Amino acid sequence: MSLERLLASIPEGSDDAALARQIQPDRVPQHVAIIMDGNGRWAEQRRLPRVEGHRAGIQSVREVVETSARLGLGVLTLYAFSIENWKRPAAEVSVLMTLLRRYLRSELDTLIEHGIRFNVIGREGGLPAEVLDELREAEARTAGHRGLQFNIALNYGGRAEIGDAVKAALEARLAPESIDEEQFSRLRYTAGQPDPDLLIRTSGEMRVSNFLLWQIAYAEIYVTGTLWPDFRRRHLLEAILAYQQRDRRYGGIAPAVAGTTLCT
Ligand code: FPP
Repeated sequence: MSLERLLASIPEGSDDAALARQIQPDRVPQHVAIIMDGNGRWAEQRRLPRVEGHRAGIQSVREVVETSARLGLGVLTLYAFSIENWKRPAAEVSVLMTLLRRYLRSELDTLIEHGIRFNVIGREGGLPAEVLDELREAEARTAGHRGLQFNIALNYGGRAEIGDAVKAALEARLAPESIDEEQFSRLRYTAGQPDPDLLIRTSGEMRVSNFLLWQIAYAEIYVTGTLWPDFRRRHLLEAILAYQQRDRRYGGIAPAVAGTTLCT
């Protein structure tokens, strides 16, 4: 855990430093997943075209990725483009793909500098070849890194992922009796990674929108009204602090209550 590394990057005496100092180093979530929402509304509030919200959202991506790496998170997954997002106007889809390529080109050195391992989850089919090429190159150039695992969910759908895992099980001719939760987990796009402990959604919407449906079974959900382009380090730290106040039971009972039960 590298709270010191994070603090070293924050101006001494600032509000962000005060927030960072409240974080309990031994209770930092291993995996944070984020539904980045509200780009369109951010742009509309400023009478700008919707795509300007996506453009502005890139700075939030940068800040969240770097803060996560400094904080020593194991995995960060950002929902960049869902299978359902193909229903958007072609011009908006095209801008999103361009922004993604631009982000990779401008940030690859930073990802490398922070020892971040970049990974794409979702279906390859349908993605433009030039986007795929750049994604694969970023994955290859960061493959040996041991720092933050940074997943971008692209052309992703939770139901599609479960469907693809079922297909993989059938293609591998796995015996039905061998398919338990552990085995099934190995067939998911996030095989080998811990499931999200904390799911953040921006812009106030109370939905999971087909994101990591299997993996979020026990995730703590944090919804903030902040629109994605306004989301900064401070908001991530606030979400982690809220998470640290939660009592995670995984279907059991709180330890204090369990103690009472044993004593009576
Ligand atoms: C949701 O806002 C946001 C998206 C569908 C795309 C998010 C993409 C980016 C921030 C840019 C590229 C990402 C990376 C990782 C480099 P919305 O358009 O649904 O907003 P609205 O609900 O206000 O209309």
